[in-house]
Amino acid sequence: MMIKKIGVVGAGTMGHGIAEVSAIAGFRVSIVDISWDFLNRAKDKIIDSLNKLYEKKQISEKPEEIMNRIEFSVSYETMKDADFVIEAVPEIIELKKKVFEELDNITPSHAILASNTSSIPISTIAEATKRKDKVIGMHFFNPPPIMKLVEIVPSKYTSDETISMTLDLAKKMNKIPVRLKVEVPGFVSNRIFLRLMQEACREVESKEATIEEVDSCARYKLKLPMGIFELSDYVGLDVAVDLWKVIISSGTAEDVKCTLYQKKVEMKELGVKSGKGFYTYPSPGKYKKV
Ligand code: 3HC
Repeated sequence: MMIKKIGVVGAGTMGHGIAEVSAIAGFRVSIVDISWDFLNRAKDKIIDSLNKLYEKKQISEKPEEIMNRIEFSVSYETMKDADFVIEAVPEIIELKKKVFEELDNITPSHAILASNTSSIPISTIAEATKRKDKVIGMHFFNPPPIMKLVEIVPSKYTSDETISMTLDLAKKMNKIPVRLKVEVPGFVSNRIFLRLMQEACREVESKEATIEEVDSCARYKLKLPMGIFELSDYVGLDVAVDLWKVIISSGTAEDVKCTLYQKKVEMKELGVKSGKGFYTYPSPGKYKKV
């Protein structure tokens, strides 16, 4: 099976980034969301990002030519001829199941259906379809056009052919795929991220160090591109707390009692997206290096 057209469901931060990466790699892309408001915002963000990449000569094709390969739609009808679909809707299990059921009905029988979930078991999503062997996890990182890593997560049902097609696609997108052996909650990278958040949180809450001090250690000793609290703000504190809860409730990691993150979410200080989290940003959605 040759992949010619990629479908993306969900035009949020991850969805529009994945659509951009797919179009840069030369595929025809159709991105679907429930409202034109979301789609128009996504379109503007893709154009901005492509312009930046073009100015820096990180892509050689003109942004408008790449944009010509992306179709925006509020209807699943555009998925009728998709060969590979990547879902990036919010992390709500019932919503994911509904999307996969719909995709199973409308896409051609050869199409592979991937989820960008960071925590929901792929086997549970696969069970919503009649093509469990063609369902797989393809977990990108924010911002997708910049981050090289993609976790490839097969479920117990995923066929070898689906795995190899997905690995191949990730390489065509110029990504470094890491294939997981078994489905484990939070996969690999988010389990490591949880450990970092837990220790950072414990140190601040027990007054051993300030937020800024922990972040300086992360940047200048661990050489991370962002501090741990800075990265949490960037990911979204609601997303970070959900991820924390999912891994802990699965019983596969020990918890660290710390309420700093939860309190921020209760105050609706969600990080970059709300303009305030552990740090303050110029405006909601606008990231500025701390
Ligand atoms: N498209 C194109 N260019 C972009 C971009 C995008 N979407 N986002 C950032 N850039 C560019 C900026 O314009 C900037 O270009 P410039 O140097 O010419 O001005 C360049 O990248 C560097 O950006 P900044 O100067 O704003 O800041 P940084 O040097 O800190 O880089 C970063 C930003 C690339 C985001 C870097 O800080 C980083 O790699 N941070 C870690 C991100 C990370 O770990 N992401 C994973 C989160 S976890 C996740 O997503 C999984 C989920 O399941 C939770």
